Amino acid sequence: MKNILVVGAGGQIGSELVPYLREQYGNSNVVATDIDKKKCANLSDGPFEQLDATNGKEFHEIVKKYKIDAIYNMVALLSATGEKNPELAWKINMGALENSLNIAKENNCSVFTPSSIGAFGPTTPMDNTPQDTIMQPNTIYGVCKVSGELLSNYYHSRFGVDTRSVRFPGIISNVTLPGGGTTDYAVEVYYEAIKKQQYTCNLGKGTFLDMMYMPDAIKACVQLMEADPTKLIHRNSFNISAMSFDPEMIADEIAKHIPEFKMAYDVDKAKQAIANSWPNSMDDSAAKEEWGWNPRYNLAAMTIDMLEKIQEKFDKGLI
Ligand code: SER
Repeated sequence: MKNILVVGAGGQIGSELVPYLREQYGNSNVVATDIDKKKCANLSDGPFEQLDATNGKEFHEIVKKYKIDAIYNMVALLSATGEKNPELAWKINMGALENSLNIAKENNCSVFTPSSIGAFGPTTPMDNTPQDTIMQPNTIYGVCKVSGELLSNYYHSRFGVDTRSVRFPGIISNVTLPGGGTTDYAVEVYYEAIKKQQYTCNLGKGTFLDMMYMPDAIKACVQLMEADPTKLIHRNSFNISAMSFDPEMIADEIAKHIPEFKMAYDVDKAKQAIANSWPNSMDDSAAKEEWGWNPRYNLAAMTIDMLEKIQEKFDKGLI
């Protein structure tokens, strides 16, 4: 039986990863941690520890206390927030990863940590972005992600730590809101479509980005961590995608279900510049070949599920 630690369990991905892991490995085997206890109120069916992941001593104590075998490091300050405070973004994003890797090395744990489309930059080929290509991001978020990929590969080759990672696209979900990302519009649009039948998009028409629905994102983390290591040519990090669309395409898809829905545009220059530096669509064939990556949701299937789930929340007065 594996003991798993999720760091950043109250975040957009962590809050859905913990319940999924608890289903797979048992509630008592999956320890949730976050700096903010309130964000984890709905994870009370298993162990919880309050943890600032940049505090190496406390992090180490929790790993020892629960005899942890695998660390899922889901701590991140996202791209747009990162640009507002680059020093803090580096401190949090790299601090949490550095501690995860060092503690994993001492305690023989495996480490999952997400990289991102943000690891790419303006000199990267934009269409069908190759697995192995130019990576010169111009955001602090991207600099952290590329550094994290290199550091994780180094810990694998130098110390034998079992490090694995995926380059997530924009993640769309209906449980916990993302915060401060460039791709957040693709979540907000569904909430506003239900509440007001209109949305003002902060990215312009024709801004294509890779995206993924949360159930596929969660499945990817666990599937990669369970993959046969002898089949892995890459480790940190795999391109993965499920769909690529621009704001008009998501608006058209929503309008199929809510005909009165209207999208307006008021471009946020800072977010647009970030989006323009990221791929339009990634080639994820290495993930397919090496560990069987196979997403379930496309834009149409995701839209049906998102609208249904958010409508339920609206009807219950939760949003
Ligand atoms: N969703 C992230 C962001 O927009 C990208 O990884 O910052």
